[in-house]
Formats: sequence, C-alpha cells, structure tokens
Amino acid sequence: MLVKEAEFVKSASDVKQCPESRLPEYAFIGRSNVGKSSLINMLTGRKKLAKTSGKPGKTQLINHFKINQQWHLVDLPGYGWAKVSKSKRADWGVMIENYLLQRPQLVCLFILIDSRIPAQEIDLSFMEWAGVKQIPFALVFTKVDKQSINKTQKSIAAYRRTLKKEWEELPPIFVTSSVDSTGKEDILEYIHNTMDLA
Ligand code: GTP
Ligand code: MG
Repeated sequence: MLVKEAEFVKSASDVKQCPESRLPEYAFIGRSNVGKSSLINMLTGRKKLAKTSGKPGKTQLINHFKINQQWHLVDLPGYGWAKVSKSKRADWGVMIENYLLQRPQLVCLFILIDSRIPAQEIDLSFMEWAGVKQIPFALVFTKVDKQSINKTQKSIAAYRRTLKKEWEELPPIFVTSSVDSTGKEDILEYIHNTMDLA
C-alpha cells in the first residue's frame, strides 16, 4: 500500500471525543519512548506528522490521523513512564482502556517492543489483558538499526519462547526501524490485507 495522503484529524482525551467516522482503525501502543510516534512517521513518510521526543511521555492524548481517506492510524500515549504521578497513570489507564474497549472499528492494535530489551512484565501483562478482552494485536519490534541483525534475531527468538509459555498461538510479528524504514512494507501490507475486516 502506498500512503498518498496522511493528515492529522484530532487529539482526544476521551474515547467520546474520538472521530465519529467508522473508518477501519489501527492503533500503536507500547512503553513510553519505544518509538510509536517515530514508527507512524516512518509508515506515512511524513517526518513531522506525529510528535516525537527523546524524553518519554511526549504523546499524552489519543491522536487520530487519516490515511488515503480510507483508514485511521492512531498514536497513543506510552505506558510505564516512571515520572508520571499515580493519579495521572490511573487517568491514562482509564483513557486507554475505554478507547480500546469502545472502538469496534479498531482492526488491530500494534504493540511495540524495543528489540534490544528482554521481555518485560509490563508488556506481557498488557498483552494478557488485551487477550482477555479479545483485542486483536500484533507485535512490532522497534529500533533494530541499533544492533546487529544477529542480536535482533536472538532477542526475538527469546521473546517468542517467552510468549509460547502463555500463548497457544503467537500474534503476527513485525521487525522495524524508523531510521532506515525496515518493516515499512510488511506493516502497510498487513494493514491493507486486514482493512476490509472492519
Ligand atoms: P511517547 O510518546 O513518549 O510514549 O514515546 P514514543 O513511543 O512515541 O517514542 P518516539 O517515537 O517519540 O521515540 C522516542 C525516541 O526514540 C526518539 O528519540 C526517537 O528518535 C528514537 N527512535 C524511535 N524509533 C527509532 C528507531 O527505529 N531507531 C532509532 N535509532 N531511534 C528511534
Ligand atoms: Mg509518542
């Protein structure tokens, strides 16, 4: 799929403020700083579409982008950001939970994982929650430009082994770098192929 048009639609702090349109939707979530906003810019080929930052906690709202007038891409705030107060974390949880549970047009939630870091409890328990709630998800390993292909392969293999302890079937897995556009075609093709499920 070619991204011909990509436009910011709106930021929402509540699922009720999200666009009313029923276009199929693909959202990106994961720990703060894992590279969600950068991935969105890489996929759309628009360097400044989603705001990125070296400091965690940049994205704080639910941000909708419309692609090719056909589907929505959604940038979500990250979880696991230590510097956020407990009450803010609770607000985040409510906002994200409501969004994920009340958007029937959500076709797939891409859960991003830093390819350099071993499996983290926070990601595994988030996946477990998504599984219980029957939210379809895929895994995206990020920042593979930061280490050798060999190391990435080993760390993904280890991740699969960890997942297999809990899951009968593994989700689709993508391997990406926003710096050199690794994985761009794979993800866009996956979106293209699943879009009419919405
Ligand atoms: P929050 O909005 O704070 O939750 O973070 P985020 O997940 O949106 O991360 P963001 O895209 O803002 O990227 C965080 C940092 O990682 C930035 O400094 C990016 O430049 C860097 N980064 C993201 N993706 C990649 C990648 O594929 N390779 C490299 N080398 N750096 C990356
Ligand atoms: Mg972000």
